[in-house]
Amino acid sequence: MTAHDPQQAARPNTPTTTYLYDNYDTAFVRERVAEFREQVRRRLEGATTEEEFRPFRLMNGLYLQLHAYMLRVAIPYGTLTARQMRSLADIADKWDKGYGHFTTRQNLQFNWPKLVDVPDILEALAEVEMHAIQTSGNCIRNVTADHFSGVAADEYEDPRPTAEFLRQWSSLHSEFSFLPRKFKIAVSGAAQDRAAVKVHDIGLRVVAGPGGEPGYEVYVGGGLGRSPFVGKVVREFLPREDLLAYLEAILRVYNRFGRRDNKYKARIKILVHETGLDQIRAEVEAEFAAMDRTPFAHDAEEFARIAAFFAPPPYETLPAQSEALQSAKRENPAFAAFAEVNVSAHKIDGYAIVTVSLKPTGGIPGDATSAQMRVLADASEKFGFGELRVSHEQNIVLPHVKKDDLFALWRMLDAAGLATANVGLLTDIISCPGLDYCSLATARSIPIAQAISRRFKDEERQREIGRLGIKISGCINACGHHHVGAIGVLGLEKKGQESYQITLGGDPSLSASVGELLGPGVGADQVADVIEHIVDFYLSERQGEERFIDTWRRLGHARFKDVLRREGENGADI
Ligand code: HEM
Ligand code: SF4
Repeated sequence: MTAHDPQQAARPNTPTTTYLYDNYDTAFVRERVAEFREQVRRRLEGATTEEEFRPFRLMNGLYLQLHAYMLRVAIPYGTLTARQMRSLADIADKWDKGYGHFTTRQNLQFNWPKLVDVPDILEALAEVEMHAIQTSGNCIRNVTADHFSGVAADEYEDPRPTAEFLRQWSSLHSEFSFLPRKFKIAVSGAAQDRAAVKVHDIGLRVVAGPGGEPGYEVYVGGGLGRSPFVGKVVREFLPREDLLAYLEAILRVYNRFGRRDNKYKARIKILVHETGLDQIRAEVEAEFAAMDRTPFAHDAEEFARIAAFFAPPPYETLPAQSEALQSAKRENPAFAAFAEVNVSAHKIDGYAIVTVSLKPTGGIPGDATSAQMRVLADASEKFGFGELRVSHEQNIVLPHVKKDDLFALWRMLDAAGLATANVGLLTDIISCPGLDYCSLATARSIPIAQAISRRFKDEERQREIGRLGIKISGCINACGHHHVGAIGVLGLEKKGQESYQITLGGDPSLSASVGELLGPGVGADQVADVIEHIVDFYLSERQGEERFIDTWRRLGHARFKDVLRREGENGADI
């Protein structure tokens, strides 16, 4: 393969707001598909065992779940074009069961592919510049970013060029393809952290340096799983030109000292915790100072080449306020609720960011049917320059909608069952697949999410309760992020019965914290009741507009525990 071609990469006649493959990228992905086709053929012919095949499939995002294979497709930094979304819908129809599952790390999972079809699926993905490389295995996984990148009113710099730069650096990086464990990186560039940077192996925040130049605040050692840790600052300000070299230094230290003797202690969070931040920092800085910097000599040009792709779309000059929006809100209360809850401030006057909830009442969080994917693709073309985003809360974002068009968009979404007005509210639940799909699960999680969603389906009540994140995992591996849920639910098995532990006070943002246990586990049919008691207590105690997490922090965990104990003593069914 040749290297990236800057001439071709410029593609002057192709308007773009995201990265486009050049010949190098295209050849790279195609070669991988051809290689995997051969590996699948050998497996199907019985020339390799499942055990021998395992590392090959994991290099290509193919898992074996409880009932079938699962293919995890990367959506780098959560950005999708309408064409890509349509292709995902076509794949779901042709080779899966007509739906896809958007995950917490900006991936899409197909839950029912047949092994024989996977090379064709990968080929179809390659057609639209997508792949499943490094969405599993002990390597650097899909690099995620703020889903409001490039458009958020509170943004300092679009983090996607950084994420793409890291994606290219980390793809098949020979030194880091067999790390002690998987490695996750997230990037954010705004005042508010929407990428959960503090619960990643490395979290990056684009910040201004002493002279106003962009660089990074670098966090290391965050993560969820069995032992949750909040990431710590390893470097307060890293100049941009040092980014790759410094990350190489961190990964080399991890590769050398990370524990390979015990897979539950192999993540970098354990290394940071056991060794201590100061010692890790000293190791990283020593490696960084000693390393040969010649391979990084062209980093600045390469960053500039990539950044040029992320140009803003051709916005119109519009007034900040929209009369059409105001009058539609007055006339239609359901739309007014949607506009209040699912619409966020855009950095350009007259535009708004719309988050489409994939959490309808009683639905499976993060699932979208192929028909809904096509509606979303159409909506993005009609109202938003053909661009979509996937959020780590498992929702879809239309990042550039004219305020004047919001009502028409809402009607289109509503007709497709995509206008649930609950973004950030109680029923915007993150849930892992749990016992319905996952071979490691100790309890179900999707039905718990559905029961909570039905119990709190009244949108007016949800708006009254305000921002409150519920997150559910079906075992201690914590894929459903329950540790950082304001209310977290962890499904375990106790004497052959499902038992759910509830935690309070988790927070994935810059004020990150891990939730605290409320008490003994409860049965599946009691989870919604317990949540109801907690919420009622919060409503009775909150001051003004105080969020749940702030009331919990002010009152302290013990007060919430007390409430539950008293309710139990009074014979409440909890
Ligand atoms: C068959 C087994 C498994 C299935 C089906 C599964 C499924 C998932 C899903 C759907 C996600 C959402 C994110 C994404 O798609 O990128 C996820 C993330 C995650 N998984 Fe799993 N998982 C499995 C095994 C494990 C194991 C063995 C561990 C840990 C030992 C683990 C730890 C995590 C963590 C910690 C996250 C998200 C939090 C983070 O980013 O650190 N998973 N998993
Ligand atoms: S948390 Fe457990 S049950 Fe849920 S997906 Fe992860 S491994 Fe499976």
